[in-house]
Amino acid sequence: MSKIVLEHIDKYYGENRVLKDINLTIEDGDFMTLLGPSGCGKTTTLRVISGLEKPQNGTMTIDGRTIIDAANAFYEDPSKRDLNLVFQSYALWPHMTVYQNISFGLKIKKLSAAEIDRRVMDSLRTMRIDQYKDRYPNELSGGQQQRVAIARAIASSPKLLLLDEPLSNLDARLRIDMRVELKRLHRETGTTIIYVTHDQVEAMTMSTKVALFRAGEIAQVATPLELYTNPIDMETADFVGSPRINLVDGTALYDGTTLKVKSPLGGFSFDKDSLKLAEKMPEGTEFPVALGIRPEVIQIATRRPAGDRWIEAEVYASQPAGSETIVTLEAQGTQFLALQVDLRSYEMNQKVWVSIDPQRVNVFNRETQRLIRYAEENRREEADA
Ligand SMILES: Nc1ncnc2c1ncn2[C@@H]1O[C@H](COP(=O)(O)OP(=O)(O)OP(=O)(O)O)[C@@H](O)[C@H]1O
Ligand SMILES: [Mg+2]
Repeated sequence: MSKIVLEHIDKYYGENRVLKDINLTIEDGDFMTLLGPSGCGKTTTLRVISGLEKPQNGTMTIDGRTIIDAANAFYEDPSKRDLNLVFQSYALWPHMTVYQNISFGLKIKKLSAAEIDRRVMDSLRTMRIDQYKDRYPNELSGGQQQRVAIARAIASSPKLLLLDEPLSNLDARLRIDMRVELKRLHRETGTTIIYVTHDQVEAMTMSTKVALFRAGEIAQVATPLELYTNPIDMETADFVGSPRINLVDGTALYDGTTLKVKSPLGGFSFDKDSLKLAEKMPEGTEFPVALGIRPEVIQIATRRPAGDRWIEAEVYASQPAGSETIVTLEAQGTQFLALQVDLRSYEMNQKVWVSIDPQRVNVFNRETQRLIRYAEENRREEADA
């Protein structure tokens, strides 16, 4: 059991407020990823949770037990928090072999020799480094050392595992393999994991939830699917997804029941049901919006199909990449990207017709930058099932 609740956490370095009123609940068994660009406060948050940093304001509890209560200058000793931290820098003991590095912490826990051996070998096999067990850290590559650091953390079966960019030193292929192993590890052990990365693919593929950080604040906490489908604002929409989302300017009119949008990519009409009515939106007057259209939502036809959903566009460039093709298109002076499955070839300046599934389109209020219309991906999935 490990449920962590952070409330109103502020962290200052001198005058610099690097965490601003952080509120975050990590449920027991979550794989919670702290995602965001460099310098946004991810590592600092992890250091606060682990006890390496003391926040100036706020509280933290683990399973209801108070760990931090800044107002009363209470900070529980890090050693009592039963958590394990793996940093970007792996900090292995140079005078110990891989095996000794991992078994050391277990000996302190006074486990039996057989239990220690089982755990060390299991964790080494999980990270696929059992063949290096008798080597010293300086006889390993950076990526191998990093895997030892992760193996050491998981061997002690902590209630809570904190990982700060643990895959950053691995090459692309190994990173994908390790993503799979970490995900399995999480499923098999049920350990609560807090994972820091600036790599959105890592965040999307492994997490049960993602907390998106921006300049010391949390912009959105959501499941990966929800974050992708309904990003809370334009900046989030732009940060998540590759190739990036198309944000197409348009004008909207809301009459109290329907939101009608005009744009270079055609007109759309959205039912009140799919609108986020809590957001500010003028009624009865036109206002500027941005349509959020994921590249995979756009269909391309090379001959004019029947039906009125299709608009004319021109191919600006096309990038076939094997399993998919990224096509840059132009319509009415607006450029946008479409992602097509399979290898397709288009001529430069070729005339095509495109269709956009209106169900899967987001609308943002240009002025507030906030999401005002949900894409109905989730409902669609239910309907398809
Ligand atoms: N010990 C420190 N003293 C002063 N400022 C610090 C200290 N540690 C971090 N900061 C500042 O706090 C901010 C947040 O840093 P943090 O390390 O949490 O970012 P991060 O999101 O982990 O970034 P990265 O992806 O680059 O690791 C940064 O602006 C950083 O310069
Ligand atoms: Mg960091």
